[in-house]
Amino acid sequence: MNLYRLFRPLAFALDAETAHRATIMALKLVPKHHPPHFPQSLKSTVAGLEFATPVGLAAGFDKDAEVPEEMLDLGFGFVEIGTVTPRPQKGNPKPRLFRLSRDRAVINRMGFNNHGQPAAYQRLLECTHLHGVIGVNVGANKDSEDRIADYVAGVSAMSPVARYLTINISSPNTPGLRDLQDEGALQELLAAVREVGCGKPIFLKVAPDLAEGDPERFVKAAIDHGIDALIVSNTTISRPPLRSRHAHEQGGLSGAPLKPLALDALRKFRKASGGEIPLIGVGGIANADDAWERIRAGASLVQVYTAMVYEGPGIARRIARGLAQHLRREGFASIGEAVGSEKS
Ligand SMILES: Cc1cc2nc3c(=O)[nH]c(=O)nc-3n(C[C@H](O)[C@H](O)[C@H](O)COP(=O)(O)O)c2cc1C
Repeated sequence: MNLYRLFRPLAFALDAETAHRATIMALKLVPKHHPPHFPQSLKSTVAGLEFATPVGLAAGFDKDAEVPEEMLDLGFGFVEIGTVTPRPQKGNPKPRLFRLSRDRAVINRMGFNNHGQPAAYQRLLECTHLHGVIGVNVGANKDSEDRIADYVAGVSAMSPVARYLTINISSPNTPGLRDLQDEGALQELLAAVREVGCGKPIFLKVAPDLAEGDPERFVKAAIDHGIDALIVSNTTISRPPLRSRHAHEQGGLSGAPLKPLALDALRKFRKASGGEIPLIGVGGIANADDAWERIRAGASLVQVYTAMVYEGPGIARRIARGLAQHLRREGFASIGEAVGSEKS
């Protein structure tokens, strides 16, 4: 039975942030169990890491590494915790998280609320990583005088407890953060992060709000600096037509309305990279067809967040099993074979 069907009306009666908190608390109470078994065809190796399924949990749900193993046990192939900043910070004033139910979307302007890297480090020390990959997404404190130094500190501090690290310069909710995507700053940042030599794969997460030439520029910078994968994409500051009353809230939009934008961005990154650097597709993925489309468009892995708010955490298992069916039906032996197989 889908227990989330019972839980959802209770959660949706609460404001979105309280519901999120209640969900994390409920997940902590779920007795430990083994993750579901997945077909061999879903296994893949990306950036030197082995994934049991290509379906991951996107950053922002488990910011403080409270339930990464619970999420792996529920069937996610990998879990990205964070964004964590060097020092704890409160984030933006509430309310800052809005469900747009009629649009199957969310708007958030959380602003990197988190307990800080030392707290996440301690929690991750206790994780076994036995059932999947746990990555750590790092960011800069809002009041930091040297944001690049914050990323360097994050990579260096968190690498012992992370299977991979994500440099997140694409959150729209920390003023000026996306400026790190500008050419000079990006080169400086990536060079500084690489110099740390942390020994773990490093991913770069980009925004879907792209200017002409951005995909080519990001791909070149990433390859030049030995970045291991690009995550496409974060939330959008654009506003496609929306029906919900919260449509005009400020912040990053995620979920169904982001899907065409994130898919288009992924295709542009695939075209710009020609498969030279792995891509991770995220934004509006809600079912196996969406995930399959993203893989065929060039994603080696996918991530999900907003659809889980509406469908519950069983979504990871359902998408993975649906992907295995797609593989069988279309004659691919593995996910790796299907990556980028769409005809342009
Ligand atoms: C409430 C909320 C908080 C988020 N926080 C973060 C974050 O801290 N760091 C980050 O890189 N992305 C964050 N994201 C973006 C997601 O990781 C993801 O890129 C985006 O939501 C698109 O995927 P989706 O449509 O499946 O949600 C957040 C998203 C939501 C909805």
